[in-house]
Amino acid sequence: MVFLADRIHKLSYAIREFVPLARSLEEKGERVLYLNIGDPLKYDFDTPSHIKKALCEAATEGYNYYTFSEGDPELREAIALKERKWHGVDVKARNVIVTHGVSEAINFVCSVLLNRGEKALIPTPTYPLYQTYILMFGGKPVSYRCLEENGWQPDIEDIEKKIDEKTKFIVVINPNNPTGALYEEKTLKKILDIAAEHSLVVVSDEIYDGIVFEGEFKSLAKVSKDVPVIVLNGFSKTFLMTGWRLGYLYVYDPTERVEETLMEAFIKVARCRLCVTTPIQRAGVAALKGSLQHLEEMKKKLLKRRDFIYKRVNEIEGLEAVKPKAAFYIFPKISERVGIKDDREFVKKLLLEEKVLVVHGSGFGDGCKGHFRAVFLPPEEVLEEAFERIERFLKRQMK
Ligand SMILES: Cc1ncc(COP(=O)(O)O)c(C=O)c1O
Repeated sequence: MVFLADRIHKLSYAIREFVPLARSLEEKGERVLYLNIGDPLKYDFDTPSHIKKALCEAATEGYNYYTFSEGDPELREAIALKERKWHGVDVKARNVIVTHGVSEAINFVCSVLLNRGEKALIPTPTYPLYQTYILMFGGKPVSYRCLEENGWQPDIEDIEKKIDEKTKFIVVINPNNPTGALYEEKTLKKILDIAAEHSLVVVSDEIYDGIVFEGEFKSLAKVSKDVPVIVLNGFSKTFLMTGWRLGYLYVYDPTERVEETLMEAFIKVARCRLCVTTPIQRAGVAALKGSLQHLEEMKKKLLKRRDFIYKRVNEIEGLEAVKPKAAFYIFPKISERVGIKDDREFVKKLLLEEKVLVVHGSGFGDGCKGHFRAVFLPPEEVLEEAFERIERFLKRQMK
């Protein structure tokens, strides 16, 4: 007999939930179309060759030791410079921590800020790992609404309503996964005003900062005048390095009152896992110093796919979606006239009957029932076939 920790029962990751079922269909000879995972490398995108070369060189040139827990000094400098150049944020290299992807940065934020029973405000829909890590550290995730009718912008009144004396921080995901929303500067300012009023830190996940099709991305740190911000970002998406597990967080504190305390805490936590893979960090330096041509090419391809999917989804009876302005996700609403119990059932049935895998909306938070998330990473011919199958499926389900 083994008695597992209670926290294990709180762990879930909706994005991969139906993958075993999809695999079992493939084993039976079916051709499954995967629109579930936000990994460009599973489709026709690849890590730029100068970054791969830098990794090989780093390993042969002896960068194989444990480096500093907070990260390779040259990489921390390069990250601070990137943030200055891309977003105009005056980041100090000493306030940067290199992490194993943004996933680890989320873990670090929760471990540094949350005591048992304390709350963190997260958007709904949300990237599911926020909920998971908050629960793992004994905290309470409290969802604030994002409004579909307002292009999935956060509902400021709802944020304000949900804050109480137990709230420790507010999470903002901009550009957003799963909605593809890009937040307006006035919205960011309002969130910062609320944070200032209640002395809260704001955590801003900006992992899609380089993949924007419409409008201008503003880093939350650039907008903040008096609120400490912890920005999370990484190399997975904009540098096509998902499997390399490289990310970072930085503290931007215009008040200069809490940055030292936060950084000391982050370094303590970082020491517990020694360091991020050293040769990968060297490749990260090459990524930041090298050409960004891959990003331009990627955005060009994705824009065409975004336009295609947006048009196609809205043509299908029973579906309706807001136009994604950034990232590579669309989050359609399933009409109530579709005769299926809920979005989980919809996803399972779609997979079993038409061999298309998407993610159920409720996997991104309570308020997202009746939706699903699809990626527009596959080439157009795959998207075309997937949406033909989805349309056929919906025709059968309409009441
Ligand atoms: C909003 C958001 N944050 C964090 C992550 C995790 O990224 P990483 O690969 O850097 O761990 C993802 C991955 O899809 C994401 O969409």
